[in-house]
Amino acid sequence: MARLSVNVDHVATIREARGIQEPDPVLAAGLAELAGSEGIICHLREDRRHINDRDLMLLRQTIKTKLNMEMAAAEEIVGIAIETGPDLVTLVPEKREELTTEGGLDVLARPDHFRGVTERLKEAGIQVSFFVDPVPDQVRAALECGADIVEIHTGHYADASSESEIVEQFNRIEKAVETGVNIGLGISTGHGLNYVNVKRFKALPEIEEYSIGHSIVARAVMVGFERAVREMVELVKDF
Ligand code: PXP
Repeated sequence: MARLSVNVDHVATIREARGIQEPDPVLAAGLAELAGSEGIICHLREDRRHINDRDLMLLRQTIKTKLNMEMAAAEEIVGIAIETGPDLVTLVPEKREELTTEGGLDVLARPDHFRGVTERLKEAGIQVSFFVDPVPDQVRAALECGADIVEIHTGHYADASSESEIVEQFNRIEKAVETGVNIGLGISTGHGLNYVNVKRFKALPEIEEYSIGHSIVARAVMVGFERAVREMVELVKDF
């Protein structure tokens, strides 16, 4: 049985659009836990465009499931992770100009760097996951660098538009999952998964955890919109 961990970054994105205090990703994380989420994920980006240091600290203090901190393997952020002590760190590549994480970590390009960062995080008692493209060599390299888990990037699958491309991308994910399972890594997956494209994953019971954010926030806006309007109508109707 697979688990869901909810990424609350885009609750913070909405907050930052106004530069005020709501909606609060910390409150959303509590609600996600009440709804059954088995973990909370946030990405403390170097530019702090959504989640900030205050959010991370309060999430660490308040969530009762498992805190997964997504982050670049950059010195400042590694220091914050070690100080904060999330249950899990997911190492991701990060580019300032990107709208969201665009691809997996190129572990093969800088194995010594990722091995060093992983060792420091693990010494601090933090589990480490590597976010990688569905490429068996990257999965194997993650293990060699000390990763406990690989999160297989599903973004290319989510972006595929024709059925043949979808099948091709899904097959790549399947092979990467198989590689990870065979060498004993924990397996999670995510990026771009939504209420439609996630259904195909029933065929891959080896995946232990799903990391999903944007589609949940997008759906919350839609399923909650009518109620929110009704509540405001009630407030103003007798003015
Ligand atoms: N996994 C990783 C490594 C990510 O960077 C993201 C996006 O922050 C997700 C999962 C969740 O992706 P989405 O918001 O598209 O569900």
